[in-house]
Amino acid sequence: MSTMPPATHSAIAENTWLHFYQMDQLQDAANQTVIVRGDNARIWDQNGREYIDALAGLFCVNAGYGRQEIADAVCAQIQQIAYVSPFSFPNLPAVELAARLAELAPLGSSPRVFFTSGGSEAVESALKIAKQYQRKLGFANRTKTISRRYAYHGTTMGALSVNGLPGVRNQFAPLVPGARHVSIPYRYRCNACQLATACTRGCTDEIEALIEFEGPETIAAIIMEPVQNSGGAIVPPPDYYRNVREICDRYGILMIMDEVITAFGRIGAWFGSEVFGVEPDIITVAKGLTSGYMPMGAALARKEIADVFGGDESDKLMHGLTFGGHPVAAAAANANLAIIEREGLNGRSHEMGNYLMQQLHLALDTHPNVGDIRGMGLFVALELVRDRQSKEPLQEERLMGWLSDQLKRRGVICRADDRLDPVIQLSPPLTIPREDIDEVVNVVAEVLHLMGQHVGSIPKLAPSLTAVPKLAATAVGKSETAIVHAAN
Ligand SMILES: Cc1ncc(COP(=O)(O)O)c(C=O)c1O
Repeated sequence: MSTMPPATHSAIAENTWLHFYQMDQLQDAANQTVIVRGDNARIWDQNGREYIDALAGLFCVNAGYGRQEIADAVCAQIQQIAYVSPFSFPNLPAVELAARLAELAPLGSSPRVFFTSGGSEAVESALKIAKQYQRKLGFANRTKTISRRYAYHGTTMGALSVNGLPGVRNQFAPLVPGARHVSIPYRYRCNACQLATACTRGCTDEIEALIEFEGPETIAAIIMEPVQNSGGAIVPPPDYYRNVREICDRYGILMIMDEVITAFGRIGAWFGSEVFGVEPDIITVAKGLTSGYMPMGAALARKEIADVFGGDESDKLMHGLTFGGHPVAAAAANANLAIIEREGLNGRSHEMGNYLMQQLHLALDTHPNVGDIRGMGLFVALELVRDRQSKEPLQEERLMGWLSDQLKRRGVICRADDRLDPVIQLSPPLTIPREDIDEVVNVVAEVLHLMGQHVGSIPKLAPSLTAVPKLAATAVGKSETAIVHAAN
């Protein structure tokens, strides 16, 4: 029985518009989960049911829920001054944040920070900076971009255009012209090196071939995530980004790293670029910048790029956002970064990420439907296959909704996603206790065991799981509540 008043039910059923969501599912408002409270990696719904949030909201609550320190910083800033126009004045929390980001980012000395309200705007801003920069250098024809297939970079029209997800892009044509796409460095299924003993550089050769085909003088920028989310925590070979950097330098193309997910500890360092030993030209951030306590993003640009926008009135970047550098969001970000540093959460992500991977391997290495377990830091995915030998993707009608539902019933929120091949994605707060990781792994293994029974594979349970009680069979395809539908 729902504890929500009837007015809330009807507001959910009739007035609420969730994102990338089938609205029909809101009609059954009485059974809708409404999340009302959080503490560290745990969240509670309106009926007091507890879950482990193994997705950190949407890859963003890096410092965990319920941080009094961030609440206090936000409250103090609202009392001091709630809003300052970024078109006219700097504000103190945003200035402090810009200096901190400039110090941390692998962008050489004194990069500049252009603040936005979120990730799509950060990507949009980075693309506009790149295009206007190229024009200012005299390369007005450098208008094209290169990004990767199946990548997600946001939903505003520029960011959408560099997305590589057909389902997300297709309804909005014409998109920004000139967006070109290349293969993802996805060794598990890479056409170029899947069967080779080592990476053959096929993916970066493809980028170079595309540049030659289009004409180097037409390309403004390449944009990529250090570890690609869509498709399931796709980690490229170690030299991939150094090769991309070298290609960018050779052809005068700007390298943009979209670190909306990977920055602020998600893959074990302040910035994912550092992990791959590469210095891009522009970095986009959002999500973990405030750990989701306030909406905020940014595009960080190397000094040599930002300097081009100094000088005359006509030199300025023709771009702005009312809420860019919002002082309250910046105060939240400053408090959040202080927590990440003080509690060593970058290192913890690395350590707990290794533990999570190890436990997943222990529990699932013998499962016939788990083809690959991959990731970096606390950014991990399991790829589901018909069987390990053929690697045929496990495409079953409504499987994703069923998995989300089964996991949620057992108190774990994570994401089942089949925008590329079917995967389960895990990305908990960096503060998640070890016992919660154990519980997540047990629940995931239990649900995958049940799934294996339904799809007719013969899963052998790892010894630690033999104690799991037998589950009531539920038909695959009967998704009660597919909770995580978002396309990003
Ligand atoms: C890599 C990446 N870039 C950009 C975005 C867009 O961010 P936002 O949803 O804050 O606009 C996302 C969102 O998930 C993302 O994962």
